[in-house]
Amino acid sequence: MRTKLVVGNWKMHGGLRANAVFLEQLLAGVDRLDGVEVGLCVPFPYLQQMQSKLAGSQLVWGAQNVSEHDSGAYTGEVSAGMLADFECCYVIVGHSERRAIFGETDEVVADKYMKALAAGMRPILCVGETLVERESGKTLAVIESQLSVLLERVGVSGFAGAVIAYEPVWAIGTGRTAMAEQVEEVHAAIRKVFGSVAATVRILYGGSVKAVNSKDLFSIPNVDGGLVGGASLVAEEFLGVCSGAVAALRVS
Ligand code: PGA
Repeated sequence: MRTKLVVGNWKMHGGLRANAVFLEQLLAGVDRLDGVEVGLCVPFPYLQQMQSKLAGSQLVWGAQNVSEHDSGAYTGEVSAGMLADFECCYVIVGHSERRAIFGETDEVVADKYMKALAAGMRPILCVGETLVERESGKTLAVIESQLSVLLERVGVSGFAGAVIAYEPVWAIGTGRTAMAEQVEEVHAAIRKVFGSVAATVRILYGGSVKAVNSKDLFSIPNVDGGLVGGASLVAEEFLGVCSGAVAALRVS
């Protein structure tokens, strides 16, 4: 059985004082979340705060990006080794915002994935189609191509225990959640890609997940949890999303 995983992606939000309140509220509610793994991927400056407040709790933390280089003259970059210093468990790689705004290619994303793995962290590899791609019937082809560079490098067996996040770009931050049939189709197709290790790969759904829809989304076959943006910024709402994962456990 794959453990359900819910990861908050704070993006460029947060502040020391507000985070402290958030963490207190979240920690007060985690006993409701037995059986589900919960993580928070926060901006780099707050990693130390996560480490000091969450170490020893059932919550894990991580980053939203990592350099594809180990060290050197890369002004403004943060290496996988630096993230490991803060005991990051997860690193998001290939988020559509990084691909679209910062021009990250599948090659760069694959490099970042490998660096995170080599430093002992778990990369969360994001894939997903734009609305234009979906409307022109290219969804599955786009996703297969986003996975293909890494697949060529590590082979199917390199994905044993991996975490993939399917995030339709048109559903991110729009309030427009993908329909169950759409999610089911894409998640099944992604799982198929991983052949002999498919059963070990966790495939998260991301895109306007909220407390009100999380149970239904996380109950869809092949959905192993979620990557949550806006709804991870308010503790009560995020706890609600995570409770949806607990409720989904009873469905399956
Ligand atoms: P959203 O973002 O939940 O606000 O749609 C998801 C994401 O970008 O990971």
